Amino acid sequence: MKKINIAIDGFSSSGKSTIAKGLAKKIGYIYIDSGAMYRAVSLFAIRNGWISDSAIDEKALESQVPDICISFKTNAQGQQETYLNSENVEKEIRNLKVADGASRVSTIGFVRRELVRQQQAMGKEKGVVMDGRDIGTVVFPDAELKIYVNASPEIRAKRRFDELTAKGENVSYADVLANVKERDERDTTRSESPLRKAVDAVELDNSRMGMDEQLQWAFDLFYKATAT
Ligand code: DC
Repeated sequence: MKKINIAIDGFSSSGKSTIAKGLAKKIGYIYIDSGAMYRAVSLFAIRNGWISDSAIDEKALESQVPDICISFKTNAQGQQETYLNSENVEKEIRNLKVADGASRVSTIGFVRRELVRQQQAMGKEKGVVMDGRDIGTVVFPDAELKIYVNASPEIRAKRRFDELTAKGENVSYADVLANVKERDERDTTRSESPLRKAVDAVELDNSRMGMDEQLQWAFDLFYKATAT
């Protein structure tokens, strides 16, 4: 069976990472969460005091970008965790402040160029399932299988709200919905690699689909893509 790369793009909280993780596990591929990489850059900038409510100190960030090393390791439970310069930051990058910063740093050209370079290197040997916003359009334009995941903002906000409250974060549904909409707007209107469906991507609206159904759907596509 030939080895391929699989690109899974979509809005925040569309469930793309759950599908990507599940599919990678099922087929024995490496899963890469490209959003975690933008979150790690955001955390790095926040810790250095380079992100304020109104601006980002791009000059300072640009000078340090080559020193930001992001990697992934699998923990004892088989879950992938994100490392920033050898420190496990998996938990810290999942809060709303870091997510907001990630949405903002991801609009900066030099940040995108560096992360795309790292992502392309990770997929060089194929056998990768990567999820994000520009995987099918920019990172792996030649990916043999591209999936574009979608669901309504309200359903995605409910998913994110449940996720955050389960982790003990004190947030309101209204705030999460506003954040989802704000990020959608930024993701689709930014000039650098805006989120859009690649022409050869297959769309999945999972608003009313369970995880098993989605996984089977993705697996069938994988099977078709590798059988030829
Ligand atoms: O998927 P996520 O919510 O963890 O992504 C965090 C932010 O990074 C999100 O605002 C969009 C951005 N992002 C991006 O611009 N390109 C990617 N390939 C992945 C994420």
